[in-house]
Amino acid sequence: MGKLFISEHPLIQHKIAMLRNRDTGSKEFRELIEEVAMLLSYEATRDLPLVDTIIETPITKANCKMIDTKLAIVPILRAGIGMTDGLLALMPTAKVGHIGLYRDPKTLLPVEYYCKLPSDIEERTVFLTDPMLATGGTAEAAIGFLKEKGAKKINLLCVLSAPQGVQKVQTMHPDVDIYTAAYDNMLNEHGYIVPGLGDAGDRIFGTK
Ligand code: URA
Repeated sequence: MGKLFISEHPLIQHKIAMLRNRDTGSKEFRELIEEVAMLLSYEATRDLPLVDTIIETPITKANCKMIDTKLAIVPILRAGIGMTDGLLALMPTAKVGHIGLYRDPKTLLPVEYYCKLPSDIEERTVFLTDPMLATGGTAEAAIGFLKEKGAKKINLLCVLSAPQGVQKVQTMHPDVDIYTAAYDNMLNEHGYIVPGLGDAGDRIFGTK
């Protein structure tokens, strides 16, 4: 079973409270999503492999460690894009892929309508971003598509998660670790997280 990391950091909790506030406007909401994503990526990178390296300091040689994997950030369109710059702030050499999915109204199956990934995705540790892990349908499908394209080590980063989404991802993809800034207990009849923060995409991009 993959790890479920729920942040308890005071900075993150404070920012989540501000995100939940209906009076927080798009500019501040966008900045907060980015900051939460950056803080969460600090936790999600804790187990990255390291390699011993000797560095010449101005004084002498030092035994150092450096990250020993290539990195990829993959936002799920559209709201996942809001988290990308936060991750890039800590992982500036990461390549960025994008994946877009919709649910076919007839079959109800997820259909990939856009996918552009680094060509060496199989060699990269992937950080998949989706601010709201609600039913988990989109995240579960996106992970499946990433695996089909060769991705081997995938972490899912979310701002808010609900039990149904966590359970779906953990059941379908037990090799994927989930990092979430907060965890709410339920979904409403429209699939929104309760108490939640509303429609993350609309609040990030000001489309409502
Ligand atoms: N997507 C959102 O943007 N908000 C929710 O509460 C659930 C899914």
